[in-house]
Amino acid sequence: MSAASREQWTGRRGFVLAAIGSAVGLGNMWRFSYLTAEKGGAAFVLLYLLFTALVGLPVMLAELTIGRGAQRSPIQALAHYGGSAWKPLGGVFVASGFLILSYYGVIAGWTVRYAGDALLSGFPTDPGAYFAEVSEGWDSFVYALGFMGLTVFVVSRGIRGGIERAASVMMPALFALVIGIAIYAATLDGSGGGYAYYLNVDFAKVLDWDVIVAAAGQAFFSLSLGMGAMLTFASYLSRDHDLPSESLMIAVSDFGVAFLAGFMVFPLIFALGLQGDVMGADTGTVGALFIALPKAFATMGDAGRVVGLCFFVALIVGGLTSAISLLEVVVSAAMDGFGWSRRNAALVMGVAIALLGLPASHAIEFLDAVDTLANNVFLIGGALGLSIFTGHVMRDPVAAARGGSKSAGWTSVWLPLLRYVVPIVLITVLAVSVPGAWDKLAALF
Ligand code: TRP
Repeated sequence: MSAASREQWTGRRGFVLAAIGSAVGLGNMWRFSYLTAEKGGAAFVLLYLLFTALVGLPVMLAELTIGRGAQRSPIQALAHYGGSAWKPLGGVFVASGFLILSYYGVIAGWTVRYAGDALLSGFPTDPGAYFAEVSEGWDSFVYALGFMGLTVFVVSRGIRGGIERAASVMMPALFALVIGIAIYAATLDGSGGGYAYYLNVDFAKVLDWDVIVAAAGQAFFSLSLGMGAMLTFASYLSRDHDLPSESLMIAVSDFGVAFLAGFMVFPLIFALGLQGDVMGADTGTVGALFIALPKAFATMGDAGRVVGLCFFVALIVGGLTSAISLLEVVVSAAMDGFGWSRRNAALVMGVAIALLGLPASHAIEFLDAVDTLANNVFLIGGALGLSIFTGHVMRDPVAAARGGSKSAGWTSVWLPLLRYVVPIVLITVLAVSVPGAWDKLAALF
């Protein structure tokens, strides 16, 4: 598609909501909560906030700058500014999109199943057995397929008619649900222990490499960074957008929803005395929350059924607007690279990704290992490549980032962060995270 006929967002609100829709997802609610529980509470949250501000935000602005400047999908955009030697990095981005969406769709499928069953028959009395049935096997695959169908539908309707419209309806609904549940959780007896766990920092854990690496991976995952998703969304932007302030709005909203999710989950877990089920290295696993929360909802009777349904609906809504952005990366690459129509690209790639999810839908250890690999290696590696590209290869990135920005304070911090701080942090994190991810993968075979 030529630059002149490229699709465009309707404006600032449309773009920012879609980008927040991408950022806010299962990562903020399910992944953030389970990692916080597994990695020791507030210490993890503090590190995650630090990575979001110091590393995530500069990379966010880099992605938006390249996308808007090039008006192309990731592979072509990198080639536009850096020559074809940079195409492989774009290829890694698209591959990450494939990989992440393949298991993201599986987890989103579980949330659809939970919400549907909660609506029709209430929460199960034996949530452990229920989760085993939901998460591993053909049921899991079929629900993932259904969820992917929804994702394909929205993406094939395009930027304005599909993605932007979906986000502008669903994001306000998600905010309302999350705030409502957090307020409800505060009214429960015994919720205090949850706040204490969530907010008191254990400083010994701030220095634990395992916690540090997990927090870095989570910051990128949650902000949808490191694989060109934000870059792709920004390629549908016009020159007059104020990218630094829009980056900040996206990052603040994303952190805000994750932080609020903790205010739903931890008071609830503590009020029902279920902390033993989710906290600590051996119980804190990918599936723990999918067992503990339904247990809590089932114990709480009718109120639990309503609150639980709202909780899973929020997960579905967040998951869908995020899955859309993952698919859009792959679809825009196929449109630009192969000249496919949007509809064909969405359909073919959606089916291919759903099939790739087959192993993750049958074995949760596999899903967990792919999640660790994608986040702690691919996204961090991708963000490293992107920061070097923007900081050291691209000519005058500050001018490209400026566009419609009236503020100037960011200009003196952004480039030094991107050039030196971000790469040093990311190389360190990679050195620690690659062996860990490798061990997890090797353990499968
Ligand atoms: N950020 C989303 C979440 O928190 C997931 C997601 C969407 C994503 N697009 C992405 C993660 C691109 C990494 C890269 O659930």
